[in-house]
Amino acid sequence: MRSKNPIDIERLKITIIYDNYAYDGQLQTDHGFSCLIEGLDRTLLFDTGGNGSIIMDNLKRLNIAPDQVDVIFISHSHYDHNGGLPRFLEAHSTVDIYVPGSALASYKAISEQFGSNVIPVDKPKWVCDGAISTGLMPSPIIAEQSLAIPTNKGAVVITGCAHPGICNIVDRAGELTGQTVFMALGGFHLLSDTEESVRKTISRLQTMGVRYVAPSHCTGKDAIQSFADVFGKTFVQSGVGRVIRGTELSETAASNRFRGKRLRN
Ligand SMILES: [Fe+2]
Ligand SMILES: [Fe+2]
Repeated sequence: MRSKNPIDIERLKITIIYDNYAYDGQLQTDHGFSCLIEGLDRTLLFDTGGNGSIIMDNLKRLNIAPDQVDVIFISHSHYDHNGGLPRFLEAHSTVDIYVPGSALASYKAISEQFGSNVIPVDKPKWVCDGAISTGLMPSPIIAEQSLAIPTNKGAVVITGCAHPGICNIVDRAGELTGQTVFMALGGFHLLSDTEESVRKTISRLQTMGVRYVAPSHCTGKDAIQSFADVFGKTFVQSGVGRVIRGTELSETAASNRFRGKRLRN
């Protein structure tokens, strides 16, 4: 399942297009998440935010033409992650859309309207040469897929809401890529967690070798602050308009905790 050629992290560029928090004051904030992933063999739009007008306006202000996108990845079927999809497809519909298999019927209707290619995801699946879906992971709220990108420094993991639990997702991404997770970004869904529980989550992620974090969306303001306090210079401030470039992730990766495991097999 492992990628044969993890990309050089310096090629990676991730732009936050939709988020609860502002980074670039020119862009609109709203509850939801979306980011553009460049530097792989295909350009990926991860989620579409909740409001079609907002995502299209933010894309325009960021000078991102919709037809740059080859693949749309929908993490889960909450409105704040898929609500902008029809409006985006009005502008550009020749895309492959990887959707939760459990909600295939509703996306089939959209694809018939716009002629896009809809691909259901249940089990882990490569969505292009450089990125793999964790597959649908269960949670008490909704099943959700996350994305893992193997790089020369370790895997980069992107989550929508992380309903299945950020630690579980990081764990699964590590197993699938055979790499320690170098960076985790997106919504971590810790807004209802106690301070103690957030502390435990942060410490577990550190034990798992996660070097950089860029939490946003539904992570919760207090939890985001806790990540900033603990990770210090490897905390990446996120928010709409933030462009995360692989070149700025210059810290060394933790040693690969999966290496020993593989050698024993
Ligand atoms: Fe969400
Ligand atoms: Fe959600």
